[in-house]
Amino acid sequence: MTKNQKTDKLRELKKILIVGSGGRENSIAWALSRNQTIEQIYVCPGNGGTANFEKCICLNPKSEDAKTIIKECQRLQINLVIIGPEVPLAEGMANKMRDAGLTVFGPDKEGAQLEASKGWAKDLMIENNIPTAKYWSAESKEEALEILKRFNQPLVIKADGLAAGKGVTVCETIEQSKEAIKEVFSGKFGSAGKKVILEEKIEGPEVSIFALCDGEKLIVLPPAQDHKRLLEGDNGPNTGGMGAYAPALVINQKDLEDLTELVLQPTLKGLKKKGINYIGIIYAGLMLTSSGPKVIEFNCRFGDPECQALMPLMGEEFASVIFACARGELENAPKLTFNNQCSVCIVAASKGYPESPQKGDKININIDSNSSLQVFHAGTTIDKFDNIITSGGRVLSLVAQGESFEKAFDLAYSNMKKINFDGMHFREDIGYQVRNI
Ligand code: AMP
Ligand code: GLY
Repeated sequence: MTKNQKTDKLRELKKILIVGSGGRENSIAWALSRNQTIEQIYVCPGNGGTANFEKCICLNPKSEDAKTIIKECQRLQINLVIIGPEVPLAEGMANKMRDAGLTVFGPDKEGAQLEASKGWAKDLMIENNIPTAKYWSAESKEEALEILKRFNQPLVIKADGLAAGKGVTVCETIEQSKEAIKEVFSGKFGSAGKKVILEEKIEGPEVSIFALCDGEKLIVLPPAQDHKRLLEGDNGPNTGGMGAYAPALVINQKDLEDLTELVLQPTLKGLKKKGINYIGIIYAGLMLTSSGPKVIEFNCRFGDPECQALMPLMGEEFASVIFACARGELENAPKLTFNNQCSVCIVAASKGYPESPQKGDKININIDSNSSLQVFHAGTTIDKFDNIITSGGRVLSLVAQGESFEKAFDLAYSNMKKINFDGMHFREDIGYQVRNI
């Protein structure tokens, strides 16, 4: 095929299916819907906000079973599948879809180990000279306790596998590290806790960087900052993320280029060396320490809520770029442009989140999404009377853009008053790093 034919092929993108039900998938659907040539976006299973956006609908039957979704993709003649969350990626949904002839954005099971096994990701980093915190791994409690004793200082304890963001304990004392090791081997995390990673504790501001990969090449997106703790002042338990903003100012364009060379390129090359054709997102969570940037985690998908803050910054060609990645032909994609505004995301969570979120409350939303303010749903559903009801911990995110962070946060926080449900709570200090508060 000639280059022109390949470029024409990208114009054939009409129907997209997104797997997932969170705020991340809702925001991806919204961003893709802005591309004029796209006719329909199915979100499987989607949520109570999916159909609020033009061309977007939830796909029934609501099944997480790859076989059923593949059949639906074939019936609907889907051109592109985007798999949002890590669990189906780690379980090999992309492999099955590719075997069935579908064009998929999201890594195969082998590549998803970048997130699904912290030990595997650490080995990849060491093999490719990617800076990361020192670590040890252990397959039994006794072995882990022995390492802790030898090291004789508090270590960060991480369950090796996927633990829905709950498998990491940053310890202040040796006693806490001991408890965390026992917890990992107690069975609490299921098979994710068969192995433990003990890591040197490092310090510094955190930043997330993202690359869209086509197996060979990559495109870097604006960096973002997440807020993992539940409460203001970065206190309370870790959550999936209570808010985010982009671009993160803690690194500049030159730093981002350096980090691409230091972290993102070697990761993609390292994957290739292992025979992995990595198509999808590489998300690197970094800590900027006094001795240089270090990777604290990799994820194999967009961050949630970072994605909600990033999507409004994507140019209309985003859909074609994702399609080109999925086809392994990034060189034929149009140049991805970014809106140079500041984008912010505040998560509204339900009472009891993260331990035991209250569900079933009616939500009132008196905002219509527009080009500078978006309501992205996550844990919501619609009841038989057409009410929007809470159905999860992180209920929705309010996302705003402005020419400065002050303006974007003012817009977001002033509109937060137009959303309410029983027990709703959100952090007032999202973006404290870039605001005068
Ligand atoms: P993760 O689930 O891997 O994103 O880790 C959750 C949080 O734990 C990170 O966002 C960091 O704030 C913290 N963390 C992880 N690894 C380390 C480390 N080696 N030293 C200090 N903090 C860490
Ligand atoms: N916001 C963190 C994550 O998606 O893992």
